Amino acid sequence: MGLAFGFEGYRFHGLISVYFPYNKHVIENLLSRASVKMVREPGPSETELRAIFEAAVRAPDHGKLRPWRFFVIRGDAREQLSEMFSEGVRRREPGANEAQIAKEREKPLRAPLTIAVAAKIVTGHKVPPIEQTLSAGAAAMNILNAAHALGYGARWVTGANCYDPVFKREFGLEDADQLVGFIQIGTPDETGPVTRRPDPSEFVVKWNRA
Ligand SMILES: Cc1cc2nc3c(=O)[nH]c(=O)nc-3n(C[C@H](O)[C@H](O)[C@H](O)COP(=O)(O)O)c2cc1C
Repeated sequence: MGLAFGFEGYRFHGLISVYFPYNKHVIENLLSRASVKMVREPGPSETELRAIFEAAVRAPDHGKLRPWRFFVIRGDAREQLSEMFSEGVRRREPGANEAQIAKEREKPLRAPLTIAVAAKIVTGHKVPPIEQTLSAGAAAMNILNAAHALGYGARWVTGANCYDPVFKREFGLEDADQLVGFIQIGTPDETGPVTRRPDPSEFVVKWNRA
């Protein structure tokens, strides 16, 4: 079975049913996900969105703190987020030129649906902030995988806005909270090349105490 992990996604697919006869659709989904930059309408339906969030709240969560917050941005709210992106770059970079501002303004308009994922951090808790943030990151990853399973393209992006206290406040977040990213979702509008993935064995060590 170890051999199989050395194959690129498309070659691996043929082996999936041999190695994983029971969970092949699940593993196929994980092994075929890739970020999709260009997406268009339609985005997920309400029912699909519900399934995406059901997957999100399966994220592991130390202490049952439920740190995740998901902000659904679509329709007119995209224009409002676009305005916030433009204000953000003007505020942080007073010398920003029109092209930079226009680029920021355009970002939230690329996808029919954006989900801003945040971690609402409980400070002074025995579960440290990093674990709460990681839980929100795991929720974001589940959103990417669920969107892919439903046939949508999705991409996780951040940028300076995520670390900007003024920007965070627009989402009702405080300085200690983390805006872990924006997940842009829509119907895939590109058939780019298959992304070459590294051989995972490059990153895997069979550990023993020396
Ligand atoms: C926390 C986080 C933040 C990211 N922020 C950005 C970003 O702001 N802009 C960007 O182009 N890619 C960003 N990426 C990378 C893309 O989401 C994506 O992983 C990358 O394009 C590689 O594609 P892949 O997911 O198919 O490997 C981010 C990834 C993570 C995990």
